[in-house]
Amino acid sequence: MAPRSLLIGLAVAALSLFAPSASAFKEKPSPFSFSSTPGGYQLGGPNLAPEIRVAPNDAPGVLRAAKDLAADFGKVLGVNGTVVVAEWSATIAQTGATRPIIFIGTVGKSSLVDNLISSQKLDVAPISGKWESYLYKVVSSPWQGRDAVLVIAGSDSRGAVFGIYDIAERIGVSPWHYWADVVPTKRQYIWASNDNTHQEGPPSIKYRGIFLNDEAPALTGWGKANFKASQYGSAFVSDFYRHIFDLVLRLKGNYVWPAMWSSMFYLDDPKNGPLATEYGIFMGTSHHEPMARADKEQGRFLKGSWDWKSNKAGVQTFMQEGPARAKNWSTIYTLGMRGSGDAASATLSSSALEEIIAWQQSALTKAIGKPISEIPQVWVMYKEVPGYWQAGMKVSDDVTLLWSDDNRGNIRRIPIGNEEKRKGGSGMYYHFDYVGDPRNYKWINTIQLQKTWEQMTLTHDSGVKNIWIVNVGDLKALELPTAHYMAIAWDRDNFDTPDSTRQWLKSWSGRQFGEAVAEEAASIMTTYGKLTARHKYEDLSRTPFAFHDTNYDEVELNYKEWTDLLARAQKAHDSLATAVQDSFFEIVLHPVLAGKTVFEIYSKVALGSRYATEKRISANKLAKDVQAAFSADQAITKRFHSIKNGKWNHFMDQTHIGYNNWQEPSSNSLPKLTTITAAASNAIMGVSAQGSTAAFPGSAKLTMAPLSAFGPPGVDRYFDVFARADGTFTYEITSDSAFLNVTNRRGTVSSPNGTPDLRAVLTVDWAAVPAGSSTATLTVTNLNQTSAKATVVVPLEKPTLPADFKGHVEADRVVSIEAEHFSPADSSKEYVVVPDYGRTLSGVRLPPRTPSQPAAKGFVLAYPFYTFSEAADASVVVYLGPSENANPNSPNKYSVAVDGGAATTVQVVPLTNGSSQPAGWADAVVRGSYVKTSKVGKLAAGRHVLKLYLLEPTMIVTKVVVDVGGVKTSLMGPPESWVAK
Ligand SMILES: *[C@@H]1O[C@H](CO)[C@@H](O)[C@H](O)[C@H]1NC(C)=O
Ligand SMILES: *[C@@H]1O[C@H](CO)[C@@H](O)[C@H](O)[C@H]1NC(C)=O
Ligand SMILES: *[C@@H]1O[C@H](CO)[C@@H](O)[C@H](O)[C@H]1NC(C)=O
Repeated sequence: MAPRSLLIGLAVAALSLFAPSASAFKEKPSPFSFSSTPGGYQLGGPNLAPEIRVAPNDAPGVLRAAKDLAADFGKVLGVNGTVVVAEWSATIAQTGATRPIIFIGTVGKSSLVDNLISSQKLDVAPISGKWESYLYKVVSSPWQGRDAVLVIAGSDSRGAVFGIYDIAERIGVSPWHYWADVVPTKRQYIWASNDNTHQEGPPSIKYRGIFLNDEAPALTGWGKANFKASQYGSAFVSDFYRHIFDLVLRLKGNYVWPAMWSSMFYLDDPKNGPLATEYGIFMGTSHHEPMARADKEQGRFLKGSWDWKSNKAGVQTFMQEGPARAKNWSTIYTLGMRGSGDAASATLSSSALEEIIAWQQSALTKAIGKPISEIPQVWVMYKEVPGYWQAGMKVSDDVTLLWSDDNRGNIRRIPIGNEEKRKGGSGMYYHFDYVGDPRNYKWINTIQLQKTWEQMTLTHDSGVKNIWIVNVGDLKALELPTAHYMAIAWDRDNFDTPDSTRQWLKSWSGRQFGEAVAEEAASIMTTYGKLTARHKYEDLSRTPFAFHDTNYDEVELNYKEWTDLLARAQKAHDSLATAVQDSFFEIVLHPVLAGKTVFEIYSKVALGSRYATEKRISANKLAKDVQAAFSADQAITKRFHSIKNGKWNHFMDQTHIGYNNWQEPSSNSLPKLTTITAAASNAIMGVSAQGSTAAFPGSAKLTMAPLSAFGPPGVDRYFDVFARADGTFTYEITSDSAFLNVTNRRGTVSSPNGTPDLRAVLTVDWAAVPAGSSTATLTVTNLNQTSAKATVVVPLEKPTLPADFKGHVEADRVVSIEAEHFSPADSSKEYVVVPDYGRTLSGVRLPPRTPSQPAAKGFVLAYPFYTFSEAADASVVVYLGPSENANPNSPNKYSVAVDGGAATTVQVVPLTNGSSQPAGWADAVVRGSYVKTSKVGKLAAGRHVLKLYLLEPTMIVTKVVVDVGGVKTSLMGPPESWVAK
C-alpha cells in the first residue's frame, strides 16, 4: 500500500527419465448428483425446490445465508427454495410436507439441530466445540411420518454459514457469481447422497481474508459509478460491502481490511460496522491504522499531531474512540503505531512502542469489558516494524504477530525460537498487488499460483496459523489468485502434494466455466502464471530490457509463448456458450490478451532496435506493430468496460505502459521506437545469423555459433534473409556439403508489401557429418544481382559420447539443467519438485520444517553431466526463486561441488536488520529470481557430477547451469541441454 501523499499525485518437453511422481489434490468428493436417475435424497427437480428451515433464535447471519441458499437453488433449478423460520415443534407438526426439507442450524442454538442430536439421529461429535466447522448429511426418519431431511449443522454460526455456501457452490453457484459473472450451472435434478456425512473444518487458518487496497483509480471509480457516496465522499458503503462480504463468506473467509485510501469504513456508512457483524465478518484495519480507526479519520478527528512523543494525550483520545465505537461488532484490533500514512515514524523508539501497545491493551480491556486474552489483536510486522522486534522489543503474548511478505510475495519472516508458542500466535500479511518500490503492480493479475502455494505452505507449516490477510488491490482481475489463496487458508491439507495447485486449478476452472474447458483453462492459466513470473507488466519498461534481444532468441521466443497462449485462450473462449464467455473473458482471455499486447509492445520495441542495427527495413514494420498494439491496448480496456453493458466500467482505468519510476505514469505512453532509412535499392539483400547482430553486407562472412550433435532439443538454428530497402528480390542458398541444408532454400523477399524477412532454418543430417569438428559453408545469392553473395559459415561438432553415459550433455560450452532433472538414484529423496513453479519448468525445494542442513553434507541433488570442452575456470550458475531469508537465524544458502572438488557455499540473500530489504532485492523480485555464480576451477572434458545442496527449506531452486565458457547474458539462462537417457 502507498503513503496517502502518493494519492494526490495520482519449453522444453518433459523428460520422462526424470519425471516427478504424480499425485492428486485431495478435494473431498461432492455428495451431490444431478442426473435424472434417482440417487439419494431428492433436493430438486422439475418445479421442485427445497424448503429451508432455520430456528428463529439462530444467528442473524445464518438466517441471512439461508435466504441466499434458497435463491441459489432458484438460480440452478429455475424454481426458488423457500425459507421457513420455525422451531422444532412447528416443524414436526407439518409431517405431511411433500417438498424436500433442509435444516440449517448452529449446534446448541438451533432447536432443529439440537432435537436431532438428542434423539440420536445426528452425531455432531466430529465438529462439536471446533471453530467454524460443519457437517451435512441426510437424516432418515427425522421424526415420525417424515422420510428424510438434509441437515447442515455448524459448530458455530460461521460454521453453519460455510456449510450453506459449500452446498451452494457444489450445486452450481460460484462464489464469483457477482464479481466475475460466473453463470450458475443449470440443473434439472439435485440429489444428496444418503450414504455419507460431509464434514469440513476447522479451517487451517483461524482468521483469513482480504484487504481492499491501492483502490484507485479502478475500484474507486467503479464504486462512485455504482453506489451513492457517503457525506465524506466515499462510495464504499454498505451496499458495496454486501458484495464483498458475500464473496468472502463464499470463499470460506471471515476477515476483511476495508478500503482506506480515501475512506473510513465505520463512518462512510454507519451500517458498515453492524453489517459486517451480521454477516459474521471480522473487520480489521490495516497495518498503520491502530485501534479500529481509519487513517483518514486522523485528519478530521485527531487533535494535534499523530505523534506519541509530543501529543500522547491527543493520540490516546483518538485511539480510545476506536474500540468504544466497534466494541459490539466483530473486530480484530490492530495495535502499535507507525508514522503518518504508510511511513516509518521518525520519533518512535522500541520503548515507546512497548508503552503504546501496553496502553492500547488496557484501553481495549476498558472499552470492551473483557479480559485482554479474549480480544483478538494484531501487531503488523510490516516494512520497518520488524526492526523493532529484531532489536529485542517485548510485546504481550496475547498479541498476534502479523508477519509480512516483501510486497512481492516473498515472505520475510517465519516464527522462530519461542515465537510459535505465543498465545496470540502469528499471522501473515501477503500481497497480490502493491504500490511502491521497485514498481507498482496494480493493473491486472501477475501472480503465479505455484509460488503462492510454495510460500503459503511454508508459512502455514512454519506455524503461522492465526491470521492470513492478503492485499487484493481492486479485487477484480485478481479473482484467481484470491480464490486459490483462500482455498489453501481454508484447508491446507487439500494442498498437500506439490501438484495440488494444478489439480485445484482444473477443478476450479471446471466450476467456473464447465468441464469441457477445465483442463485447457487450467493449462492456459498455468502458462500465464509462468509468463508473468518472468516480469510484471510494470517492470517491462526498465532498461536495459531484461529479455535479451539476441541471445537465446529470448525476446522472440518469450513473445511467441504469448501469441501461442493467446491462440489457445481465444479458441477455448470461442468454444463456450455465449453465456459463459463473459466470465471466461474476465478471468482467462482478458489477462492473456491484454498481457500479450503489452508484451508485444516491449518485445517489438526491443527487436526493432536490434533490427535497426542490422538495417532491416522491417524495423519500420515493427514500429507500426507497436503503435497498433498500443491502440489495441486501449481497445481491450474499452472492451472490458463494455462487458454486461458497462457493469465493470473503470476497472481497467489503471495506467500500465511507460512506467519510469516506481509510481504509475499519469497516462500510458509508447516507448521510444526505432525506425531506419532504407539502404540503396541495389544493396537490398541483408543476411543476419542467429545470436549475433553482425549482418551482411556490413559483414560479408557470417559465422554461426557451433552446431552440436548434442545441441539443446527443440531449439531452431537459423539465419535470416531480409530486405534493407523497399523492393523485391529472390535469393537462393547453396550448401557446400551434403549434410547441411536449410528451409526456405529459395525465396522472394519483399517490402513494404510481402514478406520482408525469411528464415532459413538449418537442417543437419548428423549421421552423415564426420566425427569431430568440421565446417560447412552456405552461400546466399541475390538472384537479381548475383554479385551480392553472403557467406554463412557453420561450425559443426560431433564429438563422441560414451554410450553408457546418462545425463545432460554440453553443447557450445554450456550445460543447462532444469532443477527437477536431477538423478533420482543419486539424490536425496527428501527433495520435492514443485511443478510449474518459476519462469521455466519447475522448482525443487526441501519441505517446510526441514532442519538446516550442514554445508555440502546434507540432502543432495546430483546432476550427472558430460563436457567436451576443457575449461580453465568453469563456473556453476544457480537460478533460485526470489525467496527471502524467512528465517533470519538460518539464511538461504546452498553448497555446490563438481566431482570430488571442494564445495563452495553461497549465501543467496544477505541478512538485514529486519527493517529494510536486503541488497540486490529489487533486481531479484523484478527478474523473479536470484542468480548466483560460483567458480569451480579447472574442469577437464568428460564425465562429471554436479552436487547441489540446499541448506534451508525457505528456498527453491529452478535451474542449474555449468558454464565452461559459453554462457551469454539473458534473463532466464540458456535453454536446457540435451539429455542422454
Ligand atoms: C427467486 O428469488 C430471487 C432472489 O430472491 C428473486 O429475485 C426472484 O424473483 C425469485 N423468483 C421467483 C419466481 O419468485
Ligand atoms: C528482382 O526480380 C524480380 C523478378 O525476377 C522483380 O520482380 C524484382 O523487382 C527484382 N528486384 C529488384 C530489386 O530488382
Ligand atoms: C535441401 O532441401 C531441399 C528441400 O527443402 C531439397 O530439395 C534438397 O535436395 C536438399 N538438399 C540436400 C543437399 O539435401
